[in-house]
Amino acid sequence: MEITVLEDPAEAVADLLVEAAAAGGQIVLTGGSSPKRAYEIAAARDADWSGATVWFSDERCVPPDHELSNFAMANAALLSPLASPPHVERMQGELGPEAGAGAYEAAIRERLGNEPRWDVELLGLGPDAHVASLFPAKPEKDVTGRLVAGVPEAGMEPQVPRISLTLPALCAARHVVFLVTGAEKAEAVRRAFGDPPDPTSPAAHVRPTTGDLTVFLDPSAAASW
Ligand code: 6PG
Repeated sequence: MEITVLEDPAEAVADLLVEAAAAGGQIVLTGGSSPKRAYEIAAARDADWSGATVWFSDERCVPPDHELSNFAMANAALLSPLASPPHVERMQGELGPEAGAGAYEAAIRERLGNEPRWDVELLGLGPDAHVASLFPAKPEKDVTGRLVAGVPEAGMEPQVPRISLTLPALCAARHVVFLVTGAEKAEAVRRAFGDPPDPTSPAAHVRPTTGDLTVFLDPSAAASW
């Protein structure tokens, strides 16, 4: 695990995304508010993303043009401004948690096989140390044997059902990259990446099986680590 503290980690994350895209990689994007600036910076570099495929770590069960949709945010900030856009496999939140999870599981297995390996997977960290839509004290964090789980009840706001990659799927990437900013995440950073990590934090279990883990923090998020 490599932890890097930068004044503006969004720049470094944008570099990683652009590099993976230009190499035609399988890229997992995340939602929430933290990655938006990294997406905008990556879009401004206007690389050729046409050989790449974009996936999502999790989604809220809303239509794809809804203000809470992770796809809508990534699409506005990154995907739609690109001159040479990637192939996009979005989670269909509008299907609801169970059907949406089933459809995404099928899409992953069809395109990447039963043991998918994404090249770069960007993740955020919740203030409660959740990752993707795997929340502490909720059963989906313990799901094995499936790549995607339906999450009928979220562990925090926004309180809408979710679809999420499971921990085994999240750990299957070649390069897992966390982007965490802001003082309200400092305690969660300690729980997820401290020594020892707190096992009640779902993010503490995202450790690539055979790959690299890079954590980008700004100074506020790094305050308690
Ligand atoms: C979501 C996410 C989630 C997010 C963290 C951090 O759909 O909510 O994908 O896991 O990454 O909650 O979110 P913020 O960046 O908004 O703090």
